[in-house]
Amino acid sequence: MKIFLAGATGVIGRRLTPLLIAAGHAVSGSSRSADKARMLKEQGAQAVVVDVFEAKALRDAVAAVRPDVVIHQLTDLPQVLDPARRGEALIRNARLRIEGAANLVAAAQAAGARRLIAQSIAFIYADGPEPHAESDPLAPAEGDDLNAVTARGVRALEDATLHTPGLDGIVLRYGRLYGPGTWLEAPSGRAPLHVDAAAQAALLAVTRGGPGIYNIAEDDGAVLIDKARRELGFDPAFRLK
Ligand SMILES: NC(=O)c1ccc[n+]([C@@H]2O[C@H](COP(=O)([O-])OP(=O)(O)OC[C@H]3O[C@@H](n4cnc5c(N)ncnc54)[C@H](OP(=O)(O)O)[C@@H]3O)[C@@H](O)[C@H]2O)c1
Repeated sequence: MKIFLAGATGVIGRRLTPLLIAAGHAVSGSSRSADKARMLKEQGAQAVVVDVFEAKALRDAVAAVRPDVVIHQLTDLPQVLDPARRGEALIRNARLRIEGAANLVAAAQAAGARRLIAQSIAFIYADGPEPHAESDPLAPAEGDDLNAVTARGVRALEDATLHTPGLDGIVLRYGRLYGPGTWLEAPSGRAPLHVDAAAQAALLAVTRGGPGIYNIAEDDGAVLIDKARRELGFDPAFRLK
């Protein structure tokens, strides 16, 4: 299949690109930077230099690829976790989830893509009994606290993914990433997820699973992952060789 991978140079995208290519897909990966785009070419992907906040340029770029599937692996987070700058990072990231995702979904629809797979998070459920199923409510989105800012971003991203006519939307609610290139070397906090297993879940979602939401994390009792195991064949123990 032809795949447009937005965020191909990110921590998940870098591992997902070779997995997609090895599975026989033709990958066009995006970055804002020509330097990073070169890395994509070295991986065997077509490189597309575009900023998702530039709606017209993005629309043209996705239309030129004519993808069957569009994958959203966009975040706007620092390479090194700095607690002092956490607030501004979460505000930027929420903007990307609201405006960037809207632009990407519109571009995917206009280009005639059939399926859209989007990266969300599994650690924004409202307080309540665990493990959380995908149908559990999310944290309140009203107010100015950072959790509400993140919840607004997540709702906008997930709504656009799930409710766009013509597109089968799949939301992957990833747990807290750890492993090579991430902030954490080892699992930390509830619902951890190795970056390799995160990438594999997106590969599986290209050809498997009905539209809807899937928790993608390790089975530590925080979130239910039965649906992802059953419908996608998700394996939290997956690691790249
Ligand atoms: N669930 C989780 O726990 C989770 C999820 C994601 C990330 N993280 C943490 O955050 C850290 C940083 O993440 P990351 O390495 O993936 O980097 P990142 O800086 O968040 O970027 C991710 C991807 O989004 C792209 N991107 C961002 N803004 C864009 C825009 N306006 N237009 C087009 N593309 C845009 C980046 O492309 P370019 O920069 O190449 O343009 C890159 O491909 C990770 O190491 C990880 O620890 C955690």
